[in-house]
Amino acid sequence: MRLNINDRTVEVLLSEETLRQRVAELGAQLSVDYAGKDLVMLVVLKGSMLFAADLCRHITAPLSMEFMGLSSYGDSTETSGEVQVTLDLTKPVKHRDVLIVEDIVDTGLTMRYLLKNLAAREPASLKVCTLLEKPERKRVEVPLDYVGFVIPDHFVIGYGLDLDQKFRNLPFIGRVV
Ligand code: IMP
Ligand code: MG
Repeated sequence: MRLNINDRTVEVLLSEETLRQRVAELGAQLSVDYAGKDLVMLVVLKGSMLFAADLCRHITAPLSMEFMGLSSYGDSTETSGEVQVTLDLTKPVKHRDVLIVEDIVDTGLTMRYLLKNLAAREPASLKVCTLLEKPERKRVEVPLDYVGFVIPDHFVIGYGLDLDQKFRNLPFIGRVV
């Protein structure tokens, strides 16, 4: 389905219902895997905000949330791999079970940086839950423990993901055509 939004043609890739179902499945899996653990959802701003808000409501294990802000230098559609921390955690995660919640793993450069940064804080465990993975664009290998959807090499927007800071509020994920 194609829609006209802000003078752009957007093709729906993952509908609201498709996202809802998969996020519920991921939440159910995480509820089992993190039962009895000391889960810290590490939400990477800004893109993961909608995903994390929906996901946490499907996790029955007790959890706390921390936020990390990252910005990577580069043009608007590709990261340079040089990552800057714009907002850091408010509590230490030492000996806790950290789950990084990310919107998309594209080249993998941002995730590689994050894993290294967080591993240095000595968590009891460190895993990754990403809503989207674009394997065709991978430049570095990073372990992804939970993946919502594997998508082809399109620049996608909506459900938290932006194009020049816009479109984050779309309830579905689409590509600009
Ligand atoms: P990576 O370092 O190349 O894996 O990508 C890091 C960041 O780039 C992601 O966390 C997103 O914020 C952004 N990004 C990558 N691909 C897309 C896309 O298709 N749409 C919107 N943002 C993207
Ligand atoms: Mg991101």
